[in-house]
Amino acid sequence: MKEIKIAPSLMCCDFLNLNNEIKDLEKSGVDLFHIDIMDGNFVDNFAMSGTEIKAIKRITNIPLDVHLMIKEPLRYIKYFADAGADIITVHIEACTHIDRILQEIKNNKVKVGVALNPGTSHLLLEPVANYIDVVLIMAVNPGFAGQDFIPSSINKVKKTRDFLNSLGFNNVEIEVDGHIDTQTIPPLYNAGASIFVAGTAGLFYGDRDYKENIKKLRDCI
Ligand code: DX5
Ligand code: ZN
Repeated sequence: MKEIKIAPSLMCCDFLNLNNEIKDLEKSGVDLFHIDIMDGNFVDNFAMSGTEIKAIKRITNIPLDVHLMIKEPLRYIKYFADAGADIITVHIEACTHIDRILQEIKNNKVKVGVALNPGTSHLLLEPVANYIDVVLIMAVNPGFAGQDFIPSSINKVKKTRDFLNSLGFNNVEIEVDGHIDTQTIPPLYNAGASIFVAGTAGLFYGDRDYKENIKKLRDCI
């Protein structure tokens, strides 16, 4: 059985205690740090920024998975690459010139991610699939932690996996963001996802025993 990757959503951390939070998550065996960037325009919220990415990069070697929920991200690709992103994910709905933007990410020697909102078809990936390292399927409408899981996301993952495989892109990974917990991981994993963004549903809850909560997420498949 293939190992899953767990990517804690750092916007759910205690920001007054970020250094210890990062260390604690590292010790709990996470694979990526998921960093949400919001512009108050593409989504109705603000989250983290390049300032935090630079600071986090100084204290960890865990890859930084930067999810841009911003309009027309072309202007900021170099900024986030220079700040320390290892993966930059853009929303296909936010890009007029998606081909150019994905080229720009590649030119900055960063892995390429493309995110799809719940209402966006995976078929839009076809013309640009050759650039992509990771497809991020949103299982909630982006912008806020703590939302309900959208059940059709499971079938969307399956369709996306089959579609990528049919194009010969079997190595492109599928990541899912939104209400990831021990209930939602098994069907999403069986549908073909391998990276899971852990937020308030599956990791940052209760007494925040990250080691125990991550073990539960890994053991549920
Ligand atoms: C935005 C975030 C949220 C959230 C995920 O992209 O990544 O989706 O923190 O975690 P939940 O839905 O479990 O709070
Ligand atoms: Zn995210």
